[in-house]
Amino acid sequence: MTNSIVDVTADAYANPGDQFERALEEGRILRFQPGMLPLPTEEDMDFLREEVGALITLKNISYHPDGDYITGMKKVGDTEQRLRAILRKYSDTVNGFLGAALPHYARSWHQQKVNFRPVQEKGRKIKRHSNNELLHVDAFPAGATHGRRPLRFFTNINQTEPRIWRIAEQFDELYKAYAKEAGIDPNLSVRGNPAERAWSGALAGLAKLGLPQLQVIGDTSPYDRAMRQMHNWMKDNDSFQKDPSRGEELAFQPFESWAVMTDAVSHAALSGQHALVATYYVELDACRLPERAPYNVVARGAQAA
Ligand SMILES: [Fe+2]
Repeated sequence: MTNSIVDVTADAYANPGDQFERALEEGRILRFQPGMLPLPTEEDMDFLREEVGALITLKNISYHPDGDYITGMKKVGDTEQRLRAILRKYSDTVNGFLGAALPHYARSWHQQKVNFRPVQEKGRKIKRHSNNELLHVDAFPAGATHGRRPLRFFTNINQTEPRIWRIAEQFDELYKAYAKEAGIDPNLSVRGNPAERAWSGALAGLAKLGLPQLQVIGDTSPYDRAMRQMHNWMKDNDSFQKDPSRGEELAFQPFESWAVMTDAVSHAALSGQHALVATYYVELDACRLPERAPYNVVARGAQAA
């Protein structure tokens, strides 16, 4: 997988067409050199690295643009307010910056959240299914994508330490090889039954009325449960994880950014500390290669296996 990375040049960025969307859907990672993305000020990045990290209470600290609120940190003094202002601005910056490279997605995508990840990934004491050090495809324990594709945009804001990833097979290969072992029903109806669809619709309606948290807590779908099965199976399987011939390592240097479809590219964060991560859901009908989307791989089910 020598061509797993696409370096985005200034010229290509100025005239993107759909080249970057296609590259993402082919399972490649877009990498942006330091200096392309406007970052928070030095003072604000010092604040993130030195003060905010100590206040973490969940796996990540998250800014939710829909409700303009923060989760995952202790509220001490005005730190939450300052963090909210920094991440709100960063969220807007990334919307513009990444949207310019991915114009077809940006017409209908939804920015779900912006994380700050202050904890060293290597050796982190955390539940196995939450452990980023293990290879996985992203699948969310709460909330449903209904086939929309999670696109994640990372920036390493550590001043000296690269963020080391391992990447391995793409979802279509994983599905073919392991869906049965992972317990995914090959005849699964990805859309679910009418009652489940009605429930999702009701939650989406409430979210539009200003209660986005409800959708995160209460929504699920057969497709999302299948993705979760694959995610958990990968993390639970030692022989899968420890096969030394599997995949390749990548190093993302300080202040580089990278974008990846994390439902398709299996990945692990082996080490690194201090990353900003913006998560988008890309609509399936904005995809250039929809047949490669995990939703359609699962929908094809037994025929694909
Ligand atoms: Fe992940």
